Order: sequence, then structure tokens, then C-alpha cells
Amino acid sequence: MKKYLLPLIWTLILLALGGCSPLRIDPTGAGPTDDAADVTKSAPAERGGMGADNGAQAADVGAAGVGDPLFPQSGNGGYDVQHYDLTLSWDDASGAIEGVTVIAAVATQPLAQFNLDLSGLEIDDITVNDAPAEFSRNGSELTIRLADTDALATDEPFSIAVAYHGKPQPIEFALLDEIGWLDYRGGVVVVSEPDGAASWYPVNDHPSDKASYHFTVTVPKPYVVAANGDATAPVAQGDMLTYEFDAPAPMASYLVTISIGDFWIQEEPGPDGVLISNYFAEGLSSSLLGAFDKQAEMLAVFTQAFGPYPFDVAGAIVIDSPISFALETQTRVIYGPFMTGEVVVAHELAHQWFGDSVTPASWEDIWLNEGFATYGELLWTVHEDGEESGQQMVHQWYQARANEDRLGLAEPPGVVSPASMFNRVVYERGALTLHALRMTVGDDLFFQILQTYAHRFAYGNASTADFIAVSEEISGQQLDDLFNAWLYEDPLPDIPEAGLFRADFQ
Ligand code: ARG
Ligand code: ZN
Repeated sequence: MKKYLLPLIWTLILLALGGCSPLRIDPTGAGPTDDAADVTKSAPAERGGMGADNGAQAADVGAAGVGDPLFPQSGNGGYDVQHYDLTLSWDDASGAIEGVTVIAAVATQPLAQFNLDLSGLEIDDITVNDAPAEFSRNGSELTIRLADTDALATDEPFSIAVAYHGKPQPIEFALLDEIGWLDYRGGVVVVSEPDGAASWYPVNDHPSDKASYHFTVTVPKPYVVAANGDATAPVAQGDMLTYEFDAPAPMASYLVTISIGDFWIQEEPGPDGVLISNYFAEGLSSSLLGAFDKQAEMLAVFTQAFGPYPFDVAGAIVIDSPISFALETQTRVIYGPFMTGEVVVAHELAHQWFGDSVTPASWEDIWLNEGFATYGELLWTVHEDGEESGQQMVHQWYQARANEDRLGLAEPPGVVSPASMFNRVVYERGALTLHALRMTVGDDLFFQILQTYAHRFAYGNASTADFIAVSEEISGQQLDDLFNAWLYEDPLPDIPEAGLFRADFQ
């Protein structure tokens, strides 16, 4: 409850400041708009492929990627980020930002050189432990070279400060999809899954390196900023407003958001002292927002199924821009205006346990996010509408997959590419995998498995092997065959016929 009063008070202050007025004050001091790629400033340009296959790589050079099977260049080796302190200002006329990112990290090997991920934008200055460092750029790889006397030892904590500016450009992802910093008429939204975070700040952009965050974001009046975590009252200076957010729980970079827009804020107490705080774009029809009234009840249902809600704040950011999806940004989920149905909201809240608190170790394990969140849709549907509706839901998932199977289009959800990682099969056959597990081990053990997994890997990362190991440990059964058939093999298996939801799955 400690965090409850302060946001309420600043909501009132904000209203008094006219934060919801449609008037836009002319921005002053327009920032630079040069978004051309940086030229190499000092160190010789790095060629790509600093990874393990680069035989010439020195022992004190961090790898340019963590070797993710789907996104080999995402993230970097040699260090572990603890905290990001992001300070930036946004100019609504030019769309440019000016920022300083301060990163607290620990070296995991001797380091004379390491990389961050940053796409576009212009770097003004980089220091490491307050000493100027050389840098060069190659695509979205930013290489930082330390002076010999400044090299880092294994386990040594260090800080990196990057000052930069420019107009962030979205990153192309798959078909027709843009991710990262999206500047639309009326505001900005950041939706980065899987690798869009590098579009707006220098980052170790892979889910395996989670860190806490602090945001200080300055925007022209009367824009409102919504980011992850706990908000404090905005501070006005001249025509500008500065908003701060603190997100102390470890967070993967694809779950980081700041949204800038014309929002009104709605707050209510949720279960167990969790604050529910929603940011709704002004002017959206209230008929689009009804499902958010059920968030407290959803959190209660999922707390019973999965264990305690992992964060101290929960809620929604509903933007007035036609993004065609919702994204489970940590503590505050981004919704496009037509993605606000009850089942979607249940899905995104279930992600707070599975995806946000327990994050996949690699993108290959995306079913650990989407299959579990889709299973949340089923739990909510059963809670709201009864078992028969749940039964129908399972049936629909199964029939859609069976139809694909007949057409020779079956794709197991554990085998994915960047182009297929958000296909329905990952969501629905992923959820069916959990349902098959439930039918096999029974309700008691099934929920004990989910809770043990959520608790053991809370605030960290887990792989499919970790989940299978927990399932076998709790059930005392050998489950490789079940998981192999559901996750990795082509033909769609039969649903085990036992217990709840037994039906004719022909
Ligand atoms: N993780 C999101 C969800 O299931 C989906 C994100 C889709 N991403 C995209 N770039 N289309 O809620
Ligand atoms: Zn999802």
C-alpha cells in the first residue's frame, strides 16, 4: 500500500496542470534531427562477427552477440548489466530525443573491448568509469574500446555513460511489423519484442541480461509519460514536464516501454497491496476499456493459479494508434485500441508471471511465454464462463491445429524462426502442451508445477529444459516423451484422456 497514495496525489497535480487538455504548447529548443549513421570516431571500424567463430578475437574482447539461435547478434558477451538509468528528453515537433544512458554492469571476463546494441542515433560521448572511451559503430553493434590502463578484470563492477541524440527509427520486424520506438501522430509508443530496444537506447539487447531501470523523461506540456514501474509526481519547468519512473524488479529489454501521449490516469487498489494504475488515451470510447475493470479479479485468479503477482504495480497503457497487437511490457501492458478484449487482457496479465518475471533464456523458448499466457486465457474463461466454455476453447485450439496437420502445415511450437515465433501454433499448441501435461499429472500436481516454476525462476530466466525438469521433479514422472511429442515433433499428438476437459478430440 505504501506506493498507493503518491501516484494518486500526482494524478491530481497533473489534472491541475492541465495534463489532459488537448492544447499543445509549442516546443522550444528543438533538438538536433540528424539521424545519419555515426561515422567511426576513433577506434578502427570493427567488422561484424566478433562472436565465437571469429578466430582472431582476443581473450579480452566481449562477443558481439550472445549466440541466440534466432537472433545471434542480439545482446553481447563479457558483462552482465545490473541497472540502466535512462534520462531523455523528447521534442514533439522534430521527434528527436536527447539522452544519457548510464549503465551499471559487472565484467564476466577480462575486458578491454565490449559491445552494446544501438541502432541509428548519434553518439556524443562515451565514458567508462568516468574515463573517456573510444567507440566505433557497425550496424547496430556499438563497440567500446578501453584504454589499456582502464581494462576491466573478471567480476569488476563498472559504469558506462553514453550521451546521444537523434530521431529514433523503428526496427523492421517480420512482415509489415515495426518495433521499437514508434512515433505516431499524437505521441510515442515503445514496443520492442523481440529486439527493438536498441532503436532508442544503448542496451545489452537480449532477454538473458535482465536489469532494473530508472527513467527520467522530459516532454513538452501537456504530454503525459507512462513507463514501467512506480511513478512519481512530474516536475514542471517552463514549458516542460519531467516524469520519473522506477522499475526495481529485473526486466528484459524487450519489456521496457515509455509511452508519451495524451493520457488520463485511473488507479485502483488490486489484490495483496498491488496498485492497479492505467493510462488511457484521451478520447477512446469507454466501450473499449471495460475489460480493464476486471484486472483486479484477473490478478486474484492468476495469483491462485500461479502464485503471488511478482510486481508491486500492474495495469494498462492504451494508446490511440493502430498498432495491431498488445505487448506485455512489464507492470504496464501496451494495448492498441482494438486489442482490449477481456481474453487479451487476461493473456497479458498472465505474461507478468510467464515472460516478465520468468523470462525465456533464448527466443527459441518463446512458447514458454505465449503458450503459458494463452493458458491464462483458458483459466480466466473457465473462471468467468464455466468449464464448458473452457472446453470449447481447448477444442478450438485443437481443431485449428488438426486442420493444419491435415494440410501438412503442422509446425511444432518448440521449433521456431524469427518469422514464425508469433504464429498461432506457438500460442495454441503451446497452451495445449500445458493442457496435455495437466491431463497427464492431474490438477493438483499441474498447478504445483506452475507455481514451483514461477517461484524458482522468478525475476530470472528459464529454458524449456528447466520447465521439463520441474514437471518431472514435482510429478515424479518421466515426461520427455510428452514434451517431445507436443513441442518438437511434427504430427499433432492426441490429448491424453483423463480428468477435466476429457472430450472427443477427433
Ligand atoms: N508478446 C505479444 C503478445 O502475445 C505479441 C507480440 C507480437 N509482436 C509483434 N511484433 N507483432 O501479447
Ligand atoms: Zn503473448
